[in-house]
Amino acid sequence: MKLVKLGGSVITFKGERKRFRSKITEDLAGELAPFKEELCVVHGGGSYGHPLAHRYELHRGLHRQEQLAGFAEVHRSMRELNGRVLRALHSHMIPAVSIPPAPLVSMEGGEVVSFTGGPFQRYLDAGLVPVTFGDVVLDSLRGSAVLSGDDLMLLLARVLKPVTTIFVADVDGVKGPDGTLLPVVSSTLSEVPLLEDEMDVTGGLRRKLSLMFQMAKEGFRCLIISGLARGRLRGALEGRDVPCTEVRWA
Ligand SMILES: Nc1ncnc2c1ncn2[C@@H]1O[C@H](COP(=O)(O)OP(=O)(O)OP(=O)(O)O)[C@@H](O)[C@H]1O
Ligand SMILES: [Mg+2]
Repeated sequence: MKLVKLGGSVITFKGERKRFRSKITEDLAGELAPFKEELCVVHGGGSYGHPLAHRYELHRGLHRQEQLAGFAEVHRSMRELNGRVLRALHSHMIPAVSIPPAPLVSMEGGEVVSFTGGPFQRYLDAGLVPVTFGDVVLDSLRGSAVLSGDDLMLLLARVLKPVTTIFVADVDGVKGPDGTLLPVVSSTLSEVPLLEDEMDVTGGLRRKLSLMFQMAKEGFRCLIISGLARGRLRGALEGRDVPCTEVRWA
């Protein structure tokens, strides 16, 4: 069983407004295709998610009437991106089916308090490839929250028990202070310099790493690889050594 996140940083042009990286996403779909019999895909929002959610401050909760239109718009934008991802997967004969996450999670104060993972297992059992994505969701304390694709990776790993989980991004992995790729980042080392992105509504690399530490602690092998370099995703899926960062517990 393979659990793969196609980061918003790689399937969209992050700095631009709603621009899909169709060629890159199709190439990545081609690399996923040999594994379609036991595959679950998550994707992030990139320029279809973060800037809009940030503009309406949906990560901070629902406090104003005008935010409702924003909530609906972010969701529509994520569905649009999801449709594009599905098309790329279908172009490589991957039987991908969308499972929107919002009805399956409960959030409280920005934290996930429950997740219904059963539908994912049933789709897998039927031979389909479930595809889900980060989105705006209801929050019982704040009104709204942003559920990230990274959050979904942890939730799905617990249900589907993949041996390896792969986070595909627009960087080779995590870079150290001198800009070189760190092959391993461990939870006891805190020397990773993190460039903050103020538009990011899901906590950027900092939150990604803390979720990955948790996954590693629970026994999952966690890799960050580049989706911009051809063949790395396929190599990582085949268990070959490719440039990447492995995130480890302790
Ligand atoms: N030390 C670091 N090493 C590598 N990347 C870093 C570092 N610090 C910050 N970053 C940034 O983290 C980004 C990856 O995280 P980001 O959340 O933008 O991607 P993603 O999770 O793929 O996108 P999305 O959240 O839309 O799914 C990189 O594009 C890079 O700019
Ligand atoms: Mg992110």
